[in-house]
Amino acid sequence: MRQMTGRKAMTKGARTAALAAVGVLAFGTLAACGDDGGSGSGSGGSGGGGGGEASGKVGVILPDATTSPRWETQDRPSLQAAFDEAGIEADIQNAQGDVDQFGRICDGMINDQVNVIMITNLDSDSGKACLSKAADAGIPSIDYDRLTLGGGASYYVSFDNVRVGELMGEGLISCLDAEDKAQANIVYINGLAADNNASLFKQGYEQGLADKIDSGDYTLVGDQAGDWDATVAGNAFEQLLTANQGKIDGVVSANDTMAGGIIARLRAQNLNGQIPVTGQDASVEGLQNILRGDQCMTVYKNTNLEAETAAKVAIALITGSTDDADALVTGTVPDTETGEDVQSILAEPVSVTTENMQQVFDDGSADPAEVCSGDLAQLCEEAGVGG
Ligand code: GAL
Repeated sequence: MRQMTGRKAMTKGARTAALAAVGVLAFGTLAACGDDGGSGSGSGGSGGGGGGEASGKVGVILPDATTSPRWETQDRPSLQAAFDEAGIEADIQNAQGDVDQFGRICDGMINDQVNVIMITNLDSDSGKACLSKAADAGIPSIDYDRLTLGGGASYYVSFDNVRVGELMGEGLISCLDAEDKAQANIVYINGLAADNNASLFKQGYEQGLADKIDSGDYTLVGDQAGDWDATVAGNAFEQLLTANQGKIDGVVSANDTMAGGIIARLRAQNLNGQIPVTGQDASVEGLQNILRGDQCMTVYKNTNLEAETAAKVAIALITGSTDDADALVTGTVPDTETGEDVQSILAEPVSVTTENMQQVFDDGSADPAEVCSGDLAQLCEEAGVGG
């Protein structure tokens, strides 16, 4: 049941492309027919009091509150709203970056006999331990955003994460082109190695930049882990800048939190705005850094749709049947550890600059009042974005 059988063998690229295509459609369709609220700014309390009539309980473990603001500011309220609407009790907890805490929360949810468990793992080993206990207890599971390698989750709901990375690579090329820099020294500041998404993002930006690097136009002069941490990323970047005698023209930073740390170091040397830095998550900080001209772009992932979709799978399992949940599946993603395919629903990420930032506001994924506050008000006005 956990593995789709009879799928045609596809190349990785073809599979990614196919998933991307079906993923967009699926998220769009679900959003259109669901239309059950979830503005991305709901409350984070315990659920159960919504409009639906179903009963049942879902346990959700979020990873931390620091690697990206998204987990607490977007994913939690969106998930809560979707479960409230369906009348499903939701126990949403955050492991705060601690694998022991993650394990304790998981054990507690299994003891509590939740009907479905949804996790965003901190690493595959601890994620796998949780998923296998859930399977032993007969509890279906959903990998949310990050695939647990070897975990055998019943379902995986995420974005096309290789495409996320490709957008970063393409975004960096656009920013360097805008500065007439055909030749460039570039560096990669990667996400946390334990997060499977970090590898997929990297695979994507390597793909996106391959032509430029192969042709000799761009030279990769540094490739370091930034661990989803502003300080670690800032330190890694600063060391690379020194090691290259200041000759770095562009930075692929795998998320906005790390980009913020890198930009802080650039500001300290009055270099901000001169060296394009990519990002991801369309966080308030990332959007503000784009408006200031200090960040080249971000990758926007509509986490509200991701949360609603994952919630729909959980709700289908609780109120309906496995067949109902399977009907939501749009493709499979290979688990590179087991070689098995995991039933998946993926969505398409969007590259964001000031040109299309309004979409993030219009979707309710960021509050224009917050982004365009203080000295940013004028920059928002100049960019023609806001509330
Ligand atoms: C990734 C996730 C990103 C970002 C990062 C740091 O797995 O896809 O959106 O949040 O973790 O938390």
